[in-house]
Amino acid sequence: MSKSIPVVRSVQALRNVVKGWREEGHSVGLVPTMGALHHGHLSLVRAIAEKADRIIVSIFVNPTQFGEGEDFDKYPRTETEDRKKLASTPASLVFAPNAREMYPSGFASKVNVGGISERLEGALRPGHFDGVATVVSKLLLQAMPDVAIFGEKDYQQLAVIRRFVSDLNIPVEIMGGTLIREADGLAASSRNAYLTDQERQVAATFNIALNELTAKVQNGTDIRQAEKEACEALLSAGFLSVDYVAVVDPESLEPLDRLDRNARVLAVARIGGVRLLDNMAINKA
Ligand code: PAF
Repeated sequence: MSKSIPVVRSVQALRNVVKGWREEGHSVGLVPTMGALHHGHLSLVRAIAEKADRIIVSIFVNPTQFGEGEDFDKYPRTETEDRKKLASTPASLVFAPNAREMYPSGFASKVNVGGISERLEGALRPGHFDGVATVVSKLLLQAMPDVAIFGEKDYQQLAVIRRFVSDLNIPVEIMGGTLIREADGLAASSRNAYLTDQERQVAATFNIALNELTAKVQNGTDIRQAEKEACEALLSAGFLSVDYVAVVDPESLEPLDRLDRNARVLAVARIGGVRLLDNMAINKA
């Protein structure tokens, strides 16, 4: 029989549970999510269990990180299924506040991270990282965990979170969770559920295009040329458009002209109405 994961919905109830754990001497980990859990999320829960013996999974579809015309309304909300999936993991508690609990009437603050959050996703989705940084700051201050984990699938998000946690001296360790791929190579994402079977076949070529780019860059192809060829490969595979394919420094996310250090390729391409993100390490030979 699988255990049933308790859920709390208020900040006060969350703090009461955490206080009890602290009194018993437990370490606490936080896995922030927007629900619609897939095996990428479950791998984060398992990874953080190496560092924390009590684990909170937050489920909150955060309205402030969605822009006008984005998929906030249709984002999958599957709390019952999510809690069932968590029952087979080391998760201890679900924190599932509603929007009023997170943003009560009169709420007027935001966390804005300069530099790193203004490029790539930040340039294309104005305000997105303010929404992420604000909600993640709140979750960290509400739960006060020893450690929190975020998937490397949203690589820029992880870099932005590391930046403000360091800048604001928030006393928490930030772990990056390895990007998990489906059997066909597509990066695991809650938004994959939007894809039709046919779109899904095209989507599986994303990973192939990034692998090819990686090999080319490692073999000395000019980086701009390799990025251009990857865009062309995605379009001819059936993607509708490519927002960017960018080879960048893995920490600052500044564009690189030469592979003079380890790098990361970050890419976003669209298929149907779905925006897919992927990224890959490019190690210097
Ligand atoms: O990656 C996500 O699911 C969200 O951006 C996060 C970190 C839970 C903040 O809402």
